[in-house]
Amino acid sequence: FETVRVSPSILSSDFMNLQSEIASIEAGGADWVHVDVMDGHFVPNLTIGVPVAQQLARITSMPLDVHLMISNPLVQLPWFLASQPYMVTIHWEALDPACPNDEARKAVELIHEAGSKAAIALKPDTDVSVLAQTIGLWDMVLVMSVFPGFSGQSFIEETPNRIRQVVQLAKEAGASPLIQVDGGINPTTAALVGAAGADVMVAGNGVFKAADRAAAIESIRLSAGN
Ligand code: DX5
Ligand code: ZN
Repeated sequence: FETVRVSPSILSSDFMNLQSEIASIEAGGADWVHVDVMDGHFVPNLTIGVPVAQQLARITSMPLDVHLMISNPLVQLPWFLASQPYMVTIHWEALDPACPNDEARKAVELIHEAGSKAAIALKPDTDVSVLAQTIGLWDMVLVMSVFPGFSGQSFIEETPNRIRQVVQLAKEAGASPLIQVDGGINPTTAALVGAAGADVMVAGNGVFKAADRAAAIESIRLSAGN
């Protein structure tokens, strides 16, 4: 039995008090800090970029979990890697459709050379089978439980089935990536995805809008582990 990790998304935090917001989840027992990078192109929203992501590394000892919702991730990867994040996630849909597996391999190589871990994210309508050729390369697979772009959306019910498909695909390939889920996670949905095999819970509103953040983190972790 491995403990489930909780990675609160700072997209739901008070940006005018980012340092104390991060301190609150660190004190509250968060395992990682989830940083949602959006470019206004791959997704409609525009959020945090390289300068802020780099400075975050200075104010916390929690591992940075950087979720890149950007087009042409290979171009910007080196800039994000400079702050030595623990985990960097790129989106499958952002890769060149003519040669996604080649680009995926390049991205993993760049990320690993920098000493970070590499993850691949799938939008809710992307077939899990796209990972057939690269499943063994990734340290983590992010199964999106909402369409990326905004916090506060409702959990898509099909997600646990998709997690089971990733578990199956990995098993057949002899791979064992972590499985992360992101979007609409609260203690109720955490139980569903945890039972399906997810190991890392991202939660924005589920943590930052809770009256007691430490209790919310613990509750999500316990629900997912049972
Ligand atoms: C969605 C982002 C999520 C989001 C999660 O595009 O990737 O990380 O901020 O927020 P909640 O937990 O509120 O759905
Ligand atoms: Zn995210």
